[in-house]
Amino acid sequence: MALVRSFGRAATGNLADVGLLLLWVLGTTIAVAAQQQAPDASAVHQTTQGINDMWWKHAVIYEIYPRSFQDSNGDGVGDLNGITSRLDYLKDLGVDAIWITPIYPSPQVDFGYDIADYTSIDPQYGTMADFDHLVKEAKARDIRVIMDFVPNHTSDKHPWFVESSSSRTNPKRDWYVWRDGKGPGQPPNNWLSWFGHSAWRFDARTGQFYYHHFYPEQPDLNWRNPEVRKAMYDVLRFWLDRGVAGFRLDAVSRLFEDPNLHDDPLLPGTNAYGDQNIEHKYTDNLPEVHEVLKEIRQVVDGYPGNPVLISETDEPNIAELTKLYGSKLDEIQLPMDFQVADVNQLSAARFRELIEQVEGNPAGGQPYFFFNNHDQDRTWDRYGDGVHNDRIARLLAALLLTTRATPQLYYGEEIGMVTTPPARKEDVKDPIGKLGWPKEKGRDGERTPMQWDMSNNAGFTTSATPWLPVPPSYKQRNVAAEENDSGSVLNFYKQLIRLRRNQPALRDGQQSTVNSHDADVLSYLRKNPDGGESVLVLLNMSNQPKKVALDLKPEGIDSNGAKPLLTYPKASPTEVPLDAISLPPFGTLVAAVK
Ligand code: NOJ
Repeated sequence: MALVRSFGRAATGNLADVGLLLLWVLGTTIAVAAQQQAPDASAVHQTTQGINDMWWKHAVIYEIYPRSFQDSNGDGVGDLNGITSRLDYLKDLGVDAIWITPIYPSPQVDFGYDIADYTSIDPQYGTMADFDHLVKEAKARDIRVIMDFVPNHTSDKHPWFVESSSSRTNPKRDWYVWRDGKGPGQPPNNWLSWFGHSAWRFDARTGQFYYHHFYPEQPDLNWRNPEVRKAMYDVLRFWLDRGVAGFRLDAVSRLFEDPNLHDDPLLPGTNAYGDQNIEHKYTDNLPEVHEVLKEIRQVVDGYPGNPVLISETDEPNIAELTKLYGSKLDEIQLPMDFQVADVNQLSAARFRELIEQVEGNPAGGQPYFFFNNHDQDRTWDRYGDGVHNDRIARLLAALLLTTRATPQLYYGEEIGMVTTPPARKEDVKDPIGKLGWPKEKGRDGERTPMQWDMSNNAGFTTSATPWLPVPPSYKQRNVAAEENDSGSVLNFYKQLIRLRRNQPALRDGQQSTVNSHDADVLSYLRKNPDGGESVLVLLNMSNQPKKVALDLKPEGIDSNGAKPLLTYPKASPTEVPLDAISLPPFGTLVAAVK
C-alpha cells in the first residue's frame, strides 16, 4: 500500500498540538489599523437555527483539478471550456457544486497555488469570458462554482512581491515577512518549509530573508498588515461579484508566524528531504487565524445566496477542528475533516470514534468528509488490500455519501482511478517529487488526466503529449465503459448520490451510531426527520464474512427487518432480519427500516 502524502502534521512528524502560543507584540499602530479595517458591517451572521436551510449542508461537492479534467484546445492541459463541456456528466452524476483548484495566472511552480494575479484567469485555462460562461452554464444545471482562495502566499512573480523585494523602503515591503539573518549566511531561525529545507530565502538585493511556508517561489503574505487584508478581501468580493458560491481556503492555519521567531522544537528523525524533523509550533494555528476567518466570513456573508467557506485546515483533533466553526458559527461553515480522510486503514472503531466526535462537536457545526484530493494518494491505493479493492472502493463511497457530513469527491474517484506516480525521477513534474525522490515522489500520481473513454489519451486531450501521462488503467476504468456497466463503481456512486438526494433520512436525518457488537462492522442509522423510513448503514471493514444482530428499538425502530436499498456485493432485495444480518467480506448494506 502506498504511503499517504498529506501536508498535515502526521506526514511530517509534526505530531504535537500547537501549544503555548505567544502574543504578538507588533506596534500598536498596525494592530489598531487592522481592527479599524473591519469588513462590511452589514454582514448577516448565520445562526445555528438557519443551518438546516443551507444549500451546502445538502450539497455533493466535486473537486476538479483543472489541468487534468478535460482539455478543449489540444495543448495537453485541461481548461475551463473543457470543464464546461463536461457539466452534463457532472449533473448526471449528481454533483451540486464544483470546487476548482486555482486557475489564476501563475508561473505554475506549484501548479496554480503560486498566484501572480488573483483577479484574472491564466491564459492556459482560458479567459474571463470562458469563466463567466462556465458559471452561467453550471448555474443552468444547478451546479455552483467554488473558487480556491490562496491567502497565505503569492507567487514571487506577483507584482506585490516584485515591489516588496525591490528595496527595504518600498511601500509594499511590509506586505511580506522579511527578517534579518542570525548572522552572515544564516537564516533567522530553524523553521522549515513544508516542501523541504529552510523556510527562509535570502534576497541578495536587499540583504534580508523572506519567509515561505511552501516553495521559495511562494513568499508568505504578512497578514498583520491591514493593507494586505484589505487587498485580499477585495479579491473575495471580485469573485463573489462574478457569481461564485464560495471559496475553499488554502492552508489558512498557516497565515501567522511567531513574531519573536522562536525556533521550532526538534523531533526525532528526518523527513523525506533529509531535514531533521521539527514540530511546526510557531508557524501553524496561531490564534490570530480566527480573527481573519471571522473577517473573511463577514465578507462572504455580505452576499446573497449563502456563499460557503471550506477550509483546508488539517487539524490534529476534534478540539482544534471545532474552533474553526467559530464560537457563534461565525467562521468556517465546512472545515475539512482530515482526521477522517487520513484514517488510512479500514478500522471500524476509528471511523466510529471520529464520526461520533464530529457529530457531537460543541459548536454544532456541519461535518465535511472527503477521502481523496490532489495532495495525497488515492483511496484505491491507501485503503485497498489488493484483493478486494472493488469492494473497498464501494464501501468508502457508501461511508462518504451516507453520513450527515457534506461529502466531497475528487475527480476520478467515482470511476476508481488509481494513483500512478512517475516511474523515473526525470518524469516528475511536482517539485517536491524532484527534491524528495525516491522517498517523496510528489503528487503527480493523484493528478493524472481524467479517464473519459477508450480513445487515445482517454479522451482527455487530442494532444499526443498530455501534461501528465494517462495511466494505462484507462482501458479498464473510464467513464464511457462504466456508464454502460450497471455494476460499475461509477454507477454505484450515482446510486448512492440519488439515494442521498431522495431519501429524507439521508438528506436531513439525524445520525446515530448503532452497536453492531462486532469490532469490524461500522453501523449507523439516519433517522427520518418526519417519522417515515429511516436508513441503516452497515459496513464490514474486514476480509471475513460477518453475521450481526441489531437492536434498533432504543432508536425508535419497531420493525424486525431491513429492506435493502443498495448492497455490494449485490444481494437479494428481500428484507433481512435485523437479528441476523449477513455481510460478506468488505460488504456494504444500505437499508430502509421503520
Ligand atoms: C495546499 C494545497 O492543497 C497544495 O496543493 C499546495 O501545494 C499548498 N497548499 C500550497 O499552496
